[in-house]
Amino acid sequence: MIAPRYGMHKDDLRTTLDNDEYRQERDRSGMFRLVQSFPDQCREALQIAKSYDPGPRATAVRSVLVTGLGGSAIGGDMLRAVAAPHSDVPILVNRDYSLPAFAGPDTLVIAVSYSGNTEETLAAYDVARQRRARMVCITSGGELLRCAEADHVPAVRVPGGQPPRASTGYLFFPMLSVLERSGVLDRSLQGDAQETVDLMQELAEAYGPRTGFDENEAKQIAASLFGSVPVIYGTQDYAGVAALRWKTQINENAKAHAFAGTFPEINHNEILAWEECRRQARRWTVVFLRDANEESDAPRMARRVAVTRRLIGRKAAQVEVRSRGASLMARLFSLVYLGDFASCYLALLYGVDPTVIRGIDRLKAELARLKQS
Ligand code: PA5
Repeated sequence: MIAPRYGMHKDDLRTTLDNDEYRQERDRSGMFRLVQSFPDQCREALQIAKSYDPGPRATAVRSVLVTGLGGSAIGGDMLRAVAAPHSDVPILVNRDYSLPAFAGPDTLVIAVSYSGNTEETLAAYDVARQRRARMVCITSGGELLRCAEADHVPAVRVPGGQPPRASTGYLFFPMLSVLERSGVLDRSLQGDAQETVDLMQELAEAYGPRTGFDENEAKQIAASLFGSVPVIYGTQDYAGVAALRWKTQINENAKAHAFAGTFPEINHNEILAWEECRRQARRWTVVFLRDANEESDAPRMARRVAVTRRLIGRKAAQVEVRSRGASLMARLFSLVYLGDFASCYLALLYGVDPTVIRGIDRLKAELARLKQS
């Protein structure tokens, strides 16, 4: 099987994506297996989440700050998107060594690092301790777990040994449980979680390698993105979070550039870039991540999207994706899950192992050496 080339006919891309032998050869480290078994991970995570004990409540929580990076931070964005409509305190995500000045004793700081060894998260953990914030750690181990145990900070320990970005279920559901048990949500979201897991189970089959190209939206999207610069737009706040996840999954799995934006903000700046976009690159593909009921529930947004699509016109290929499910959580996960699969299929088209992240590993190793010297 030869690796796909730019300009290759769609039939050849279809053949490549439906070829199981080629997939196994490229996906040496088994990312597809992890993505496909995501519903099982979510079910296990819901069980693990029950083990969280918030302990005695000293002060009321007035803000929630999730601190983490990369594949660990995105779970915080997803949490913010689904929990904010049910919380009367702000929920924010922090991706830095330090914390904003407001973080103090009435802030619930959730330090999340899948490996437990990310230096920015460890530094933010120290800042949260100094500020006497209420704290919880979510990790599979590493230095973060060691510190939490030494400092008697509650920690939810999740199974380790896989890439952080393939562990969103392990990170998201314990965080959700932390919020519920800290009394910041106006209702339990466990029913939404159940709907989400059931929907993921259905989609695992629909987007999985066994489903052929002609019926498989994830494979078709990968073929549309191949050889172009992907720009992913979410047409509502939660879909903007999914767009960011698509971008980072394309970056890490397919080792390709991608850009993400959210409506309506992109209508106030980025829309102008489409006027002269061909000066920068010849092929662009815009993916619109939209709510299934956008026309009835958010008609002004639907108008914006229609006008924007006309303005972009033929300067970019355009792909539209609709959310599935009833609850906000299910709708968000449905968009995220499609992007997870599509980015893995795109990796196959580029002939790269989706799991391997040499650049990140090298950067972390060099920084660790710097610390020791
Ligand atoms: O997906 C990845 O591997 C990265 O984005 C990591 O999540 C990031 O480097 C932070 O590592 P960790 O999630 O272990 O804190």
